[in-house]
Amino acid sequence: MSRSESSTEHWGQADLYQQILAQLSALAKPLDKLTVEDLAPMDHFHARGYPATVELADRLPIGTGQWLLDIGCGVGGPARYLAQRFGCSVSGIDITESFVETANRLTALVGLETQVRVELGDGQRLPYADEQFDGAYSQHVTMNVADRAAFFTEACRVLKPGGFFALTEHGLGAAGAPFYPVPWSMDGSGSYLIPIDETKALLEESGFEAIQIEETGARYLSGYRTAVAKAEAGTLPSFGVHLLMGESAVEQMRNAGRNIEEGRTCPIQLICRKRR
Ligand SMILES: C[S@@+](CC[C@H](N)C(=O)[O-])C[C@H]1O[C@@H](n2cnc3c(N)ncnc32)[C@H](O)[C@@H]1O
Repeated sequence: MSRSESSTEHWGQADLYQQILAQLSALAKPLDKLTVEDLAPMDHFHARGYPATVELADRLPIGTGQWLLDIGCGVGGPARYLAQRFGCSVSGIDITESFVETANRLTALVGLETQVRVELGDGQRLPYADEQFDGAYSQHVTMNVADRAAFFTEACRVLKPGGFFALTEHGLGAAGAPFYPVPWSMDGSGSYLIPIDETKALLEESGFEAIQIEETGARYLSGYRTAVAKAEAGTLPSFGVHLLMGESAVEQMRNAGRNIEEGRTCPIQLICRKRR
């Protein structure tokens, strides 16, 4: 089994779009009036979800009419949010077929299909020409990427000189192996965490500069704790990212929090740009 297949099997989910429609119907959301904000509790599939995308977007130099790339875009929440907020176009690429299909159907539901288009592919081998994009980002994807050098080199290749690249991920902490399951792996298979210093060095070698790194562990820990407490109290809203995480969602979130608390993982938000 290739690494990519193992990643696909981890994230893939049959009937995902129908499950999402069923949840929206239970909330009495009329599909013909559906907004990007209505989907936001579910479709920003990373630690802290929608607020984390907004915080990242606040720091990015995105202009109207630009063309961005979302590498490992999931079901497309961040791409739709950025397209709507900045009036830009976003191409998304993801290795999981059910996410790609769901992303494009949700995009059509909110009427953003002229600005956002998602396709199937691997971030380690991007199907785009050199120097196409004004900016690129990848939120909580690289934990599953075995060949970081290829992933970063490809991201750099498709960016225009000076274009931004933003990355969020769980880096490997100093305190030993993480507990599993976590959102990106059930048992450690397909998980390729590396220390923050290694990520920075690989980005420099791939052609990036002005690398700014912010450790986001405290905020993520509080997000995971809040979600676990709500789940335990039976007050977790039915429409949320746990829809994408399978039956062990609460255990995954509990471990993700514990790993941060014990220094086994070290979450970061990183922004840099392609050297001119
Ligand atoms: C935690 S989800 C994040 C989704 C999205 N970035 C978001 O923030 O909503 C991780 C995503 O990475 C995708 N992925 C994992 N490895 C990938 C690869 N090599 N190339 C492209 N996508 C990949 C998975 O299919 C999944 O959609």
